[in-house]
Parts: sequence; C-alpha cells; structure tokens
Amino acid sequence: MAILKVARLGHPVLRQVCPPVPRDEISTPEVQRLFDDMVETMREHDGIGLAANQVHVLLRVAVLEIDASPRYPDAPSLPLLELVNPQVTPLGEEQESDWEGCLSVPDLRGLVPRFHRIRLQALTRRGEPLDRELEGWPARVVQHELDHLDGKVFLDRMPDLTSLSFLPEWLRYGSDE
Ligand code: NI
Repeated sequence: MAILKVARLGHPVLRQVCPPVPRDEISTPEVQRLFDDMVETMREHDGIGLAANQVHVLLRVAVLEIDASPRYPDAPSLPLLELVNPQVTPLGEEQESDWEGCLSVPDLRGLVPRFHRIRLQALTRRGEPLDRELEGWPARVVQHELDHLDGKVFLDRMPDLTSLSFLPEWLRYGSDE
C-alpha cells in the first residue's frame, strides 16, 4: 500500500468529471490497489472521505470512513465504505447546514447546506451492489465525495462565503455555530 499525494485546490484534476469504472475492471489489480492506497491515504491524513480525482485518478471511485477522526471528533461513526460508481438520490426536500472541510482545501471550514436524507447506490470494490439510506453527517460526507467526482468542491456549494474560516480561527470563534 502507498500513501498518495492529495491534489490541492487549483489543480485541474479536481475540476474534472470522473468517468465510471467499467464493471469488468473493478476486480483488476489496478483498481483494487487504488482502493487500498486511497484508504491508506485517507487514514494517514485523518480524512473521513476521499475521491479518486483527489489522488489524481480519473475514475468514479470514493472511500469513506468516519471513526472518531481528530479532524471531526463529534461525528457519528460510519464503517468503511468503498464505492464504485456511486449515485445519490435525495430523500425529501429537507436540507441542513453544517461545517465542512476538505483535504484538497486544507485548513478551511465553511457552512454548507446538504440534503438531510439520501439514498446511496453504488457497487462495492467486490462488484456487489450496495443500496443504503443515510441521514445526517454520513449523508453529508457522501454528498461531499460525490461532488468531487463531478469536479465540484464544498466551496461551490456555499450560498455565501461569510462563514469561511481558517481552522485555528474556526476553533476559536466559529465552531459552535
Ligand atoms: Ni473533499
């Protein structure tokens, strides 16, 4: 396994739309290794999600894991999800705003509205179908990672930028909003 370099905002790869993984390529050593490396990279950086284009690979692949990350100590846990070609459908109209950050936008936090409940459909890294309903923080992280796969970052989803904060200032002034 390897720790991969994470693209930062301004690198064009973050603005590209990732094409689907052909179903018969999921089991190839290249794709399986990509999953191993993305999980390793996410954990190394205390991330809770990572999309393939964040590590310079243009494939519709994302990993998520919420496990008492020091970057998000209050987040409810979510066991490791390794997703191929994920799709999200909002369930209901309800949205809520909460703070997000991103390994590709280091040291910034901003308030982002997201759908409260979603249906997540994807294939697993073993090519098995996954179909789940998620709400709250896990639903938020899924929406954040799927945005990456469409070339979007959380800043694009902020209706206004007045909440945008550097991490030390956010910890001092903004985190309890
Ligand atoms: Ni991100």
